[in-house]
Amino acid sequence: MNTGTDQPGAGQLTADVGTADVSTADVGTGDQHTAAGRSGNGQGSAGEAGQRLLEVSDLTVGFPTRDGVVLGVDGLTLNVGSHERLGVVGESGSGKSVMGLAILGMVLPPGRIMGGSVKWRGEDMLDKSVANRVRGREIAMIFQDPMVSLNPLKTVGAQLRELLRRRAGLEGSAVKKRSIELLDMVGIANPRDRLKSYAFELSGGMRQRVMIATALACEPLLLIADEPTTGLDVTIQDQVLGLLHDLSTELGVSVLMITHDLGVVAQFCDRVQVMYAGRIVERSPITEMFADPQHPYSLGLLQSVPRIDFHRGELTAIPGEPLDRTDFPPGCAFEPRCREATDICREAPPPLVQFAYRRWVACYNRAPSRAPDRAPDLTADPTADLAAESGSAAAPGSAESAAAAESAAAAESGSAESAAGAAAT
Ligand SMILES: Nc1ncnc2c1ncn2[C@@H]1O[C@H](COP(=O)(O)OP(=O)(O)OP(=O)(O)O)[C@@H](O)[C@H]1O
Ligand code: SF4
Ligand SMILES: [Mg+2]
Repeated sequence: MNTGTDQPGAGQLTADVGTADVSTADVGTGDQHTAAGRSGNGQGSAGEAGQRLLEVSDLTVGFPTRDGVVLGVDGLTLNVGSHERLGVVGESGSGKSVMGLAILGMVLPPGRIMGGSVKWRGEDMLDKSVANRVRGREIAMIFQDPMVSLNPLKTVGAQLRELLRRRAGLEGSAVKKRSIELLDMVGIANPRDRLKSYAFELSGGMRQRVMIATALACEPLLLIADEPTTGLDVTIQDQVLGLLHDLSTELGVSVLMITHDLGVVAQFCDRVQVMYAGRIVERSPITEMFADPQHPYSLGLLQSVPRIDFHRGELTAIPGEPLDRTDFPPGCAFEPRCREATDICREAPPPLVQFAYRRWVACYNRAPSRAPDRAPDLTADPTADLAAESGSAAAPGSAESAAAAESAAAAESGSAESAAGAAAT
């Protein structure tokens, strides 16, 4: 297996972030990469391209503190389709990990889900019995810190054995055979010997590979990867990302890639959602996001990293401090740091609205001036129902609500073409 050494390095931002460097093979006109068929995971046709797998709607997670309830994520909506690689990017504390844990029903008390829904292939993930059945089997997660996630008291082999027996139902010699296969698949040399190793005996890159092996042990349909390359040096980052890329393509696994690194997003993802203070502020296919970021925060993120296609002068830092999560402004959460803020920004949080084909932004000063400009591709887009959502969220009488109403009207008009145009976001 190609372990990805031919992938551009995540840390090579000057080479990676530019729009010219985003792989056209990955981005294409749809959200999905072309994946090879799944290999015998016994999960029927769930892996067919374009099928919606994960639907998160208006998810809100709160943590009670002495200063009040802190909202880790606040009204978050996202969808992941089969064979899709979706990036979620945002600064530290923006709610990326809480989002991943909430999807899997792993928010620990006193934190709790205060509202919204999480649907996995139509089933309610907020129902504990569903979450327990799906977690680690159909959806797997690579956690932010492999040293914390791997059991320091058990060998790699013992941990894989436990997983394969409990979750994949394997017994006897099949367990060892599959363990060796998994370590081999993630590029670990001498896999038979490595089964006897403890986590502390492995390098950072090897630990991350073991984490990936454990995540793939049950042939999931979706892998949530929380900062899988943080703390690794550039070469190892490159290899781990390349490995994930190859595995997601070869096995047809969708990936929800959580990261603060735009290079990782550019290199790996088909589509990206930018988070700020627990909310999605922009959603876009990768090419468009890097060519034409809309939200002032997205723009700030892109202007703060070196790009060979973009920068002629100095890099620009985003002014101000990340938000105190116990003291939210009543309006746009980014307002205290935004150079473009106007009075309306201080009144109420801006809704996430569609402004172009498959592009969404939450900002009062970004009018939806452009109509959908590409032929709709319903099979490629797992976010079809978001047009209706934006219609209800936009302020009545606003340009946003007019655009959303137009989309909804098109959907209702009965013509397959207009309905598809309205639904393809
Ligand atoms: N156990 C907790 N108790 C109180 N607040 C919490 C707790 N866990 C998370 N939060 C709040 O949720 C917010 C989001 O946290 P989260 O860990 O999701 O951030 P993140 O985007 O993953 O950051 P990083 O990039 O540093 O990993 C934090 O800023 C914090 O205010
Ligand atoms: S809504 Fe206003 S404050 Fe918020 S990002 Fe847009 S311009 Fe800035
Ligand atoms: Mg995190």
